[in-house]
Amino acid sequence: MKDLLRTADLSRDDVELLLETAAKFAANPLSAPDQLRNKSVAIYMTKPSTRTRLASETATAHLGGTPIFIRGDELQLGRGETIADTAKIISGFCDALIIRTFKQSDVNELGANSTIPVINALTDDDHPTQLLADWLTIREVFGKDISGRKFSYFGDGNNMTHAWLIMGAIMGAHVVAATPDGKWAPDSNVVAEAKAIANKNGGTIELTNDPIAAAKDASVIYTDVWMSMGDPESERNEKMKVLAPFAVTESLMSHAAKDSIFMHCLPAHRGEEVEASVIDGDKSVIWREAFHRRTTIQALLYHLTRGELKGN
Ligand code: CP
Ligand code: NVA
Repeated sequence: MKDLLRTADLSRDDVELLLETAAKFAANPLSAPDQLRNKSVAIYMTKPSTRTRLASETATAHLGGTPIFIRGDELQLGRGETIADTAKIISGFCDALIIRTFKQSDVNELGANSTIPVINALTDDDHPTQLLADWLTIREVFGKDISGRKFSYFGDGNNMTHAWLIMGAIMGAHVVAATPDGKWAPDSNVVAEAKAIANKNGGTIELTNDPIAAAKDASVIYTDVWMSMGDPESERNEKMKVLAPFAVTESLMSHAAKDSIFMHCLPAHRGEEVEASVIDGDKSVIWREAFHRRTTIQALLYHLTRGELKGN
């Protein structure tokens, strides 16, 4: 496996290896200080980022490498140079490329035309690196045995929902997504793919419009912002209304398992997708989750640049 373009690229063994290495980097960030010595990682983002950018730059530095951050408007790509030509140039100068942009097909094209590892740092369709941090956090809280546990996502059926379903399927988990039908439901192709992966790994994928049923006895309650980067502002009012029943409130949390945790990839909008008392309350693990973005991206850079991931 050269690239991480989609969450579904990862095999169960890859995830196990990455989580194991990430746990080591969490304990000792400087345990592989020469892996990227005299090497550079390009981080190209056409959408804003707080966590993923900081995690990518610090992960590269901890591996001994130099991060080169490039904003969306800074490449000739924006002036008509092709993705293929850009990919060849970045491959010649750098040793890995971390890319955040809109279209998944652009990331796939970069991967196909690069000779270096390309890592998807969020597209409109997926967010694989986030899910590695999420599952490291889940594992720290609940351990390896997740039998009988339920992992429920609430809200917009977006890139995070897709990644949540696919990674849960890879982990053999009982995954639930509570979203509206129609425009803000997850993509049916992704749902079908998640079901196929879950079948192979002993997991189950459940979709519902009933947030209380989804919260009942869940170990993890997960949500994401209702307005994603690139979502049309013209739809804001309608979207807020349709998603309102899926907000994570104290009342919703009361249906979850006793030892449940609250997770959020951040950025959060308190009072919209989550009540402040939930995200800032005892069950919330958002800070640990956010800081694992670095440890997991560090593990990903480490193993991808060594050619040690198999893919599926
Ligand atoms: N969760 C996440 O990807 O955050 P940023 O948009 O700040 O990178
Ligand atoms: N769904 C959100 C995730 C942000 C990390 C977005 O795409 O903006």
